[in-house]
Amino acid sequence: MIVPASGLAPLLPSVPGPPAGAPLVLGLAGEWLAQLGQIAGLAAGLAAIDERTVHLGVIVVLMIAAAATVLALGRITAPYGRHARAGWGPELPAWLGWMIMESPSVWLFALIYATGSAAWRPVPLALAGLWLSHYIHRAFVYPRLAYPKGSRRTTPLSIVAMAFGFNVLNSYVNARALSQLETYDASWLSDPRFLIGVALFGFGLETNRWADRVLRGLRAPGELGYKIPRGGLYERISCPNYFGEVIEWIGWALATWSLAGLSFAVFTAANLVPRAVSHHRWYREQFPDYPPERRAVFPGLL
Ligand SMILES: NC(=O)c1ccc[n+]([C@@H]2O[C@H](COP(=O)([O-])OP(=O)(O)OC[C@H]3O[C@@H](n4cnc5c(N)ncnc54)[C@H](OP(=O)(O)O)[C@@H]3O)[C@@H](O)[C@H]2O)c1
Repeated sequence: MIVPASGLAPLLPSVPGPPAGAPLVLGLAGEWLAQLGQIAGLAAGLAAIDERTVHLGVIVVLMIAAAATVLALGRITAPYGRHARAGWGPELPAWLGWMIMESPSVWLFALIYATGSAAWRPVPLALAGLWLSHYIHRAFVYPRLAYPKGSRRTTPLSIVAMAFGFNVLNSYVNARALSQLETYDASWLSDPRFLIGVALFGFGLETNRWADRVLRGLRAPGELGYKIPRGGLYERISCPNYFGEVIEWIGWALATWSLAGLSFAVFTAANLVPRAVSHHRWYREQFPDYPPERRAVFPGLL
């Protein structure tokens, strides 16, 4: 929107005009200069918008994205893995897609975190360690474990681009919260919210990795097909990996006690719960002997 210079007047302090009796040209020049000064002042004001406002704005965007994701995934299942289908544009090898889309959560997170004034304080460091322990594995180890050399599985570039964009915003929001915008003193390390959050994070991370390991064990090298996973939590639910991931980020939200952490937990649930329901339905359609007592993602509930 272009605001006419005169329209800025009510927003800005008044500037004295030329002295009475000065030649007309001086008066006009003075008025122009005053208006330019006013525009520059307004621009500087906009540029100086508090970073907390920008940060909160991005969190609101992520929350809106979570709501849109639940609504969208209720109608269409994201077209990767067993739900892959034509019509979603060019494709990448799945391992490469995973590395590209998840990697901002390592490099961008680390870069932004390191610029914060509290980056070397114990609590932010401990929390950043939790985050990186998840994402170094997810971005650089998991893709090659799930899709070893020779795997023919591909994933749409459009999905990679959307997930990349999400991870950029999510990394900014969480890294900046940890090392700059939230305040954690050392006593937070013994706060029940931190302790319970870390315990949930650890339980979720272990459950997620165990569940992904079980799935990897179902395929011989080069295979692309699906089998019924068995054992442990798989006897209760179809997607213990998603269950673990949701618990992990609820733990993160508690341990960080931040809106940034909460927005990620909400987004993860919004993304993975509908996908678990789709997986569950798919298993039941594909396998007539699929265990009827199994739920999708929350034991005994859903
Ligand atoms: N935080 C988040 O929002 C978020 C979002 C997405 C994923 N993730 C995490 O990323 C990881 C992978 O996600 P995903 O959606 O790809 O999980 P997934 O659908 O459960 O698949 C995981 C891996 O196991 C294979 N697989 C799945 N079921 C199988 C079966 N019955 N038999 C043989 N192989 C099977 C898949 O192969 P195919 O690829 O060939 O199907 C894939 O390599 C999970 O740990 C998940 O929690 C997190």
